[in-house]
Amino acid sequence: GLKIATIGGGSSYTPELIEGFIKRFKEMPIKEIWLVDIEEGKEKLEIVGALAKRMIAKANLPIKIVLTLDRQAALKDADFVTTQFRVGQLAARVKDESIPLKYNTIGQETNGPGGLFKGLRTIPVILKICEEMLELCPNAWLVNFTNPAGMVTEAVLRYSNLKKVVGLCNGPIGIEKGIAELLKVSVNRIYVEFSGLNHMVFAKRIYLDGEDCTEYVMELMTGSAGNTISLKNIEDLGWEPEFLKKLGMVPIGYLRYYFQTSKMLAEQLVAVENEGTRAQVVQRVERELFELYKDETLAIKPPQLEQRGGAYYSEAACNLICSIYTDKRDIQTVNTQNKGAIADIDPMSAVEVNCVITKQGPIPLVTGELPVSIKGLVQQIKSFERTAAEAAVTGDYATALLAMTINPLVPNDTDAKKMLDELLAAHVEYLPQF
Ligand code: NAD
Ligand code: G6P
Ligand code: MN
Ligand code: MN
Repeated sequence: GLKIATIGGGSSYTPELIEGFIKRFKEMPIKEIWLVDIEEGKEKLEIVGALAKRMIAKANLPIKIVLTLDRQAALKDADFVTTQFRVGQLAARVKDESIPLKYNTIGQETNGPGGLFKGLRTIPVILKICEEMLELCPNAWLVNFTNPAGMVTEAVLRYSNLKKVVGLCNGPIGIEKGIAELLKVSVNRIYVEFSGLNHMVFAKRIYLDGEDCTEYVMELMTGSAGNTISLKNIEDLGWEPEFLKKLGMVPIGYLRYYFQTSKMLAEQLVAVENEGTRAQVVQRVERELFELYKDETLAIKPPQLEQRGGAYYSEAACNLICSIYTDKRDIQTVNTQNKGAIADIDPMSAVEVNCVITKQGPIPLVTGELPVSIKGLVQQIKSFERTAAEAAVTGDYATALLAMTINPLVPNDTDAKKMLDELLAAHVEYLPQF
């Protein structure tokens, strides 16, 4: 029978995942789901694990849920390993999001200095998990959600012998649904060609019933219909309509940090005064969620989970796992080795593109050259991710400084060094390699 191991099982997103597996049980009869956490997450694991068990019982399915702090026991003979852990928990995210603000720099979980440090903390852990997988479940697929998912996938591709890795984000599914909503059609009538990197992806071409309707979508997006394409965790400040039309592609919300940097920074500084950083907002949402999860009469995923940015998280994960398992050969947007799908990115690197999902893994579909308007930025972020991954693996200070300084959200070398030093000190317990 199928065995799934989920690392970071104490996450408040776990009911999403369980719901997805329940829905697909007929196609994908899972026997065991092992939820793994660490000592710090033990209480969360027990609460959310008990809810998971109630959900399975209510669905009357023969799936066994195992809660454990023993990662190796969970990995043993697993078929799929999903990762949704956060090294340093939300307290570390608070630091990633607030320290850069002192230097008039965007404070964000997966972009700029915060994204760099989330990567530096996460990559050594994920590489250790890969090593253990090669030992304990050499045929299993690693389905990584842990952010920064693009940089993490890049690190696995370059520094691990594990080849069966896919990085995932809920963003592309959200964009696709948003476009369908704008067009007032069902999702299965549209085809969206995505190209780019994780959290730097663009809906490059959009087809409705086989006809290219990209320009029409851009008209709608900049017209009175408003923008229905957004993520819960990113403020929607509106785009300059002429800019967006000329860009001619739907950018994922994270592009706001690059194309509206000063507006987004000003917005963050106000938000921090009023409600704290996004991490602090999420801490409050999480407390509310875990109070609900404790209710022994609750056996479904509560709607309050929709306050989190990871909408459709389980759709992405469960669709992927299901299509690999059943050799479905449908098309999904995932982070995988480029292999020439994007002409202007190294074939070895991780990119976020449409792929045919087969039993042997994702087969990336050719999307050609990046449009000249975004080519430089996308290549620059890939250079940043590669340099950051190298810093995470080597623990080399100068490489980390290089990564920090070449990030387009970082204003200059002097502030880069100050932010690096402050963040290194703040996260010292989670950065043993430095
Ligand atoms: P969280 O803070 O609730 O962390 C999840 C769990 O990970 C916690 O219970 C924590 O104790 C545990 N953990 C920490 N270190 C661990 C380790 N070494 N081994 C096992 N467990 C460990 O986080 P969250 O808000 O639920 O998000 C989880 C992760 O998923 C984050 O990295 C987040 O960025 C990512 N995420 C990604 C997407 C995406 O689009 N790829 C969407 C949503 C969330
Ligand atoms: C989006 C991104 C995820 C990110 C999440 C943050 O959905 O795709 O990668 O983790 O937002 O949401 P949060 O509720 O934690 O701010
Ligand atoms: Mn994401
Ligand atoms: Mn700069």
